[in-house]
Amino acid sequence: MTDPKIIVALDFPGALPALALARRLSPELCRLKVGKELFTAAGPGLLEELMKSGFEIFLDLKFHDIPNTTAQACRAAQSLGVWMINVHALGGRKMLEAARGAVTGNTKLLAVTILTSMGAEDLADIGIAESPEQMVLRLARLAQVCGVDGVVCSAQETRLLREQCGDRFCLVTPGIRPLDASLDDQSRVMTPEAALRSGSSYLVIGRPITKAADPLQALLDINAQIGCVP
Ligand code: C5P
Repeated sequence: MTDPKIIVALDFPGALPALALARRLSPELCRLKVGKELFTAAGPGLLEELMKSGFEIFLDLKFHDIPNTTAQACRAAQSLGVWMINVHALGGRKMLEAARGAVTGNTKLLAVTILTSMGAEDLADIGIAESPEQMVLRLARLAQVCGVDGVVCSAQETRLLREQCGDRFCLVTPGIRPLDASLDDQSRVMTPEAALRSGSSYLVIGRPITKAADPLQALLDINAQIGCVP
C-alpha cells in the first residue's frame, strides 16, 4: 500500500509502550500519530526510532503562537523529518501564512479549526457568536487561502468541507469506530468506510487498534473494510 489511509494514534505516556505497539504494526499498513503527551515525555528520539522502522509520522502538536514563534516551531518540526504537522487556525491569517512559509519540503501542514470538544456555549464564552459549524468552515477556508494543505476535522464535517474546499484539500478525521468497536469516550463517531465515503483523506484511529488484543489484526480488518490491501 503506497498511501495507507489509517493513522494510528499512539496515545501513550512514554516511549516504551509506544515502541512496543509500533513493533506489532507495519508501515505498509498505517502511519502513526504522536501527540503532545507522548512527544513531551519521549522527545525527538522516539520519532527517530519510529521512522527508522519505516513509519511516517503525524506530529500532532497543534502550534498556536505569534507568527514568528509558530514558524520557527514548524521549521523545527519539519527538520525532524515528519510526514505531517499542524497548527491552530485560530492563530489567524498572519500566523498561518508564516507557518506556510516555514514548511517548504514534503511535510504536510494541517490546521485544526475548532476543537470538537467545543460547543456553541464554549464559543460564546470566548466571545464567538458564530456556530461551531460556521467557524469550522470559516477557519478551513482561511487555512486554505493561506496555503495550508488541509484540516483536522470531525467526520460529520467532512462532506461540507470536501464540497467547499475541493478535492485536493486534505481532511484528516478522528472519532472513527468500526461497527463492532467500543465508543470509549467518543460520542459522534463514524465507521471507517462512511468517513472515507463522506470525503476524509486519512482516518485517525487510536483505541480500536491500540487496545485490541491483536492490534495488527485489528488494523488488517479495518484496512480490509475500506478496501486497502498492501
Ligand atoms: O482512541 P481514539 O480513536 O478515540 O483516538 C482518537 C485520537 O484522535 C486521539 O489522539 C485524540 O486526541 C484525537 N482527536 C480526537 N478528536 C478530535 C481531535 C483529535 O479524538 N476532535
